[in-house]
Amino acid sequence: MGNLRVLVVGSGGREHALAWKLAQSPELQRLYVAPGNAGTVLWNVDIPVRDISALVGFALKEKIDLTIVGPEDPLSMGIVDAFQEVGLRIFGPTQAAARLEGSKSFAKTIMDSAGIPTAAWKMFEEPEQAKAYVRAIGAPCVLKADGLAAGKGVIVAMDLETALQAVDEIMEGSFGTAGKKLVIEEYLEGQEVSLLCFCDGVTAYPMVPVQDHKPALDGDRGLNTGGMGTYSPPPIWTAELEAKVMRDIVSPTLQVMRERGTPFQGVLFFGLILTGKGPKILEYNVRFGDPETQVVMKLLKSDLLPILWACTEGRLAEARLEWKEGVAVCVVMAAPGYPLAYTKGIPIHLPENYQDSVIFHAGTGISEGQLISSGGRVLGVTAEGKTLQQAREKAYALVEQIDFPRAHFRRDIGAKGLEPS
Ligand code: AMP
Ligand code: GLY
Repeated sequence: MGNLRVLVVGSGGREHALAWKLAQSPELQRLYVAPGNAGTVLWNVDIPVRDISALVGFALKEKIDLTIVGPEDPLSMGIVDAFQEVGLRIFGPTQAAARLEGSKSFAKTIMDSAGIPTAAWKMFEEPEQAKAYVRAIGAPCVLKADGLAAGKGVIVAMDLETALQAVDEIMEGSFGTAGKKLVIEEYLEGQEVSLLCFCDGVTAYPMVPVQDHKPALDGDRGLNTGGMGTYSPPPIWTAELEAKVMRDIVSPTLQVMRERGTPFQGVLFFGLILTGKGPKILEYNVRFGDPETQVVMKLLKSDLLPILWACTEGRLAEARLEWKEGVAVCVVMAAPGYPLAYTKGIPIHLPENYQDSVIFHAGTGISEGQLISSGGRVLGVTAEGKTLQQAREKAYALVEQIDFPRAHFRRDIGAKGLEPS
């Protein structure tokens, strides 16, 4: 290792956070981000994340030593297989292993075969049968489109009428092939925690646990989004809880995937819910979370590059993983209207000095020399403190210094960590 040429695939806040951390590595020679955003402008190459053959071509031509994939789309399309076929090193799961996120029913089958605690479930391909089942189990229940639906394929139905409508919405509505199959699940209650793990196929190392804030509005109201903010670590998390999750959820998943001949290399993200009956898993994601990665990278003390490298070599057990003591908070500033139709092209002015905090870019671009918004989630304002209170104060003070007219953001990121639980 050393003198490495590295390519990050993606254009969100997650990829800016990865690039920001990688750029600090003494092992790095040259960094590229495809296609990147205004925050990664020093490293950008203009290739879309779904253009796998162009990415392979670029990596061959530029002699890229390691490629790191951010979003799920190229993973589910088989970018890892395509790179490996031509002998290129890449961090992320193969297409077969990426099905843990790409298909809810596949994920549930794996959970069941490994005896992993999760919500009871059933899969349907016929709307009438699905409705009969909904009537039999009653509300609340949860309905999920089987395939990838950009985080929007899940409906938590608190009454029977909503549940019956959700069957039609998912199976005949806007989800296309993702909604041909429908998974209906038992409703679980508890605090949610995202646990991301580095995996090399055999060994899994947990990162610091994170709480995301998915609903658009304060108090967890409003429509679901990709995530409006995060903080880490949540006080509800304990060493005993982590040991239990590693033993009952993480390790069995890796073992089953290995036994099936599809070992998992990359980041496996466990969407957990802490119920009265212990931790259960709601979902897998086969990648770094967004905006989880922003706080995780802020708290990672070790060099990221050797850890990713070790994963691709099956030598993660030899890697060192150290975390800072403090707390990190990331407040997402989104475009007005997000997650529905939103305005683009709003000029943004950032302050010049903000100490050790970081403003991670997501949907940003540059037009005639001016920083502008170009997506739904635009900035991830990330601060660190000795305590959660301090980190929140720093993050929100910086948000106030950012000139982003009509920006939409939540004012209660991390507040759930201050409440007695
Ligand atoms: P998913 O994409 O599967 O994580 O679902 C999105 C969100 O829906 C989760 O973060 C939960 O808040 C909620 N959810 C999913 N499954 C369940 C369940 N079985 N019980 C309660 N809430 C759920
Ligand atoms: N923040 C949730 C996700 O990345 O899926």
